[in-house]
Amino acid sequence: MLEVLVIHGPNLNLLGTRETNVYGQETFDSINTRIKEEARLLGVEVSIIQSNHEGEIIDAIHNSRFKYNAIVINPGAYTHYSIAIRDAIKSVDVPAAEVHLSNIHAREEFRTKSVIAPVCIGQISGFSGDSYILGLRAVVLHCSKSKEI
Ligand code: DQA
Repeated sequence: MLEVLVIHGPNLNLLGTRETNVYGQETFDSINTRIKEEARLLGVEVSIIQSNHEGEIIDAIHNSRFKYNAIVINPGAYTHYSIAIRDAIKSVDVPAAEVHLSNIHAREEFRTKSVIAPVCIGQISGFSGDSYILGLRAVVLHCSKSKEI
């Protein structure tokens, strides 16, 4: 069975109360419940972590190589400047999808640049909590196609 690691970066634990005009009313717990339900429907295992610390996210990416087939990551603000997280993804042979609740390309100039996207399979941005669902589907499709080859 495919095993997928979902990583929520900084401040995402506050979803539901944080800047609801930008990120919506859906809570962190509700998004995680939906991710788990989607995993069940897709027939994959999912683990979900959240961290406000860059080093913890990097450790999780490193450790993913022993257990997971794919990563879905919302790096939060690290998206825009963490070369360390980018290097971590590049250092492990685990395909990753970058996801964002908001459309980062329609926001402030500094958010339009992702240093993480070039080392991911692709980026999903702007579909609120559904971005995680789409990200999960994307990595599962990606992994099932790679298996066929
Ligand atoms: C975010 C977008 C980032 O720019 C921001 O710093 C976040 C959330 C999103 O999901 O839309 O924390 O990653």
